[in-house]
Amino acid sequence: MKNVIRLFAVIFTTGFLFSACEGPAGPAGKDANESCTQCHNSAGVDSVSTQFELSKHSYGTVAFDESGNTGCSPCHTSEGFKNVVENNVSSTFAIVPPATTYTNLYAASPDKDYGTMRCSMCHFKLHTTYTHDDFMPLTSTAAVPMTFTGGITTIDLTQDNSKSNLCVKCHQPRPFTNSNTDKNVLDYAGLVSNPTAIFYSAAQANNLNVLKPGYRTHTHYGTVGAIVAGKGGVEFGTGYTNSQHTTVASCQDCHMAPMTGKAGGHTFSAQGNFNGCNVAGCHAADPISASTTSNHWLATRNEIKGYLDALSAKLTEGGVDILNRNSDATSNLWSGLTTKNYDGYLNMYDPINNPTGSVDNATMFQATSTSGFTVAQVTYNSTLPKLTLTNAQMGAIINFQLCLREFSLGIHNYAYTKALLTNSIAALP
Ligand code: HEC
Ligand code: HEC
Ligand code: HEC
Ligand code: HEC
Ligand code: HEC
Repeated sequence: MKNVIRLFAVIFTTGFLFSACEGPAGPAGKDANESCTQCHNSAGVDSVSTQFELSKHSYGTVAFDESGNTGCSPCHTSEGFKNVVENNVSSTFAIVPPATTYTNLYAASPDKDYGTMRCSMCHFKLHTTYTHDDFMPLTSTAAVPMTFTGGITTIDLTQDNSKSNLCVKCHQPRPFTNSNTDKNVLDYAGLVSNPTAIFYSAAQANNLNVLKPGYRTHTHYGTVGAIVAGKGGVEFGTGYTNSQHTTVASCQDCHMAPMTGKAGGHTFSAQGNFNGCNVAGCHAADPISASTTSNHWLATRNEIKGYLDALSAKLTEGGVDILNRNSDATSNLWSGLTTKNYDGYLNMYDPINNPTGSVDNATMFQATSTSGFTVAQVTYNSTLPKLTLTNAQMGAIINFQLCLREFSLGIHNYAYTKALLTNSIAALP
């Protein structure tokens, strides 16, 4: 059905151009057909479009779900993304009077809060000159001030004409905010410098807690940009270096390599596609594959998996996991990346979103009258172990989330991932 509509749209648009473009201003008659078919042919736009159907940018539903939400649309909708690029929207936190606490300024304009992710999101000039030039430049390749640090750190991956910066602008973590105090962005360096201080305790007055953790207290899904760049972890200890990928490989090199199966090209997927790895100057001499005899794959990934397992084992409260497990491979995007199938959320009881959670839900404990939960639920919650987090534990949780949710088990940036995880393990008693 969609294709039929599209076909009519092509006929309509072409007809319109024919009648409207009699002067020299636009393509007319035979020229118009030629300029259209230059791209609209089976080897051109059509074939890229077919690849794109396999991309989660295309089949994912969050663009639809989060349209109308100014905080989500810069990364989840095409118009929202182009809007923050066009207006160079700041990623800082600021106090905007009459408010007396901070807000995150990184948001799209409310009238540009929609749009599924299509070609023109990244190729913003489409249908302007009607030549191949319309594909480049990309919508943004500028350095990216990180929203999760309130703009204090910037990622700039300059290799391959800075094309990775396009991806990083969305594939970056989201900020934690000091929700119980001034609502400013959480200061990671403060967690490192004062590791034994109490970050959160159900037993202490609420205004002494930095933020009240919940089941969904998380760094969000797009942690890859920060990990590839080797920036943005809670850096306990020393020894932070980067793998060569940080400066030599671009996202496109690995994720848009020639297609194999369902990966490569405009699917943007790297799963099972080693074409990008095994090129001259990279791994051609010692080709990488998923086989057990290949270097730089299984051993690396198993080593990082081991650190994730070891870190999760240290994050417990009264003998109970602080991190949430989820063995459902559909809802847990990171299923199989740890032995116990953690998903990066917290193991907190939440009658609606996480009924099997086994740590006390701070919100329910402290706000029984306004929580909207039943008496039975509140009573059950009060039987669960109550959470106390030190700065070191909170930092370790953030690092666990970053390293689990970069998906690749260290392939993106082995050296940085290893340092973050091993230092986090060492920082915990
Ligand atoms: C530089 C390449 C290029 C040229 C030249 C070009 N197009 Fe397109 N066109 C595209 C791309 C890319 C898309 C988006 C395809 C998609 O979404 O799958 C598109 C989509 C369309 C659509 C569908 C719009 C929609 O919302 O799905 C129509 C209609 C269309 N083009 C008409 C034309 C006509 C008529 C011409 C000639 C006057 C033309 N195009 C020339 C690249 C081009
Ligand atoms: C406008 C923001 C934006 C840009 C730019 C962007 N992405 Fe994405 N990407 C997303 C979002 C959002 C999703 C998840 C969509 C969903 O689930 O609905 C996603 C999904 C993906 C996935 C699938 C992840 C999975 O869970 O399977 C890959 C791979 C990916 N992007 C790679 C890239 C690469 C490589 C680039 C740069 C060429 C890029 N993206 C540019 C926002 C973006
Ligand atoms: C700074 C960019 C950014 C912002 C802002 C952002 N997201 Fe995302 N989000 C992403 C990226 C990138 C992904 C996909 C990561 C992946 O799969 O690798 C994603 C994934 C998701 C997913 C998981 C999709 C799946 O495949 O299961 C959900 C749900 C989601 N986001 C909801 C939201 C909501 C709700 C908001 C606003 C409150 C929001 N996001 C704001 C970047 C962002
Ligand atoms: C998430 C961002 C993104 C989306 C969406 C996207 N592209 Fe691209 N496209 C890129 C990037 C990045 C490159 C450069 C790839 C490289 O360097 O290997 C590119 C390259 C291209 C090229 C080659 C241009 C050249 O001059 O080399 C064509 C053609 C193209 N895209 C067509 C499309 C079409 C058609 C769609 C929609 C079906 C689309 N793209 C959707 C990011 C995107
Ligand atoms: C050195 C190659 C390499 C580079 C560079 C690279 N990736 Fe990946 N990426 C991978 C591999 C390998 C995986 C894991 C694939 C698998 O699960 O089999 C992966 C996984 C992902 C995923 C999860 C979905 C998927 O395809 O598995 C996303 C999203 C992603 N990368 C985004 C990015 C972004 C954004 C950049 C640039 C900032 C980037 N990657 C740079 C190799 C790379």
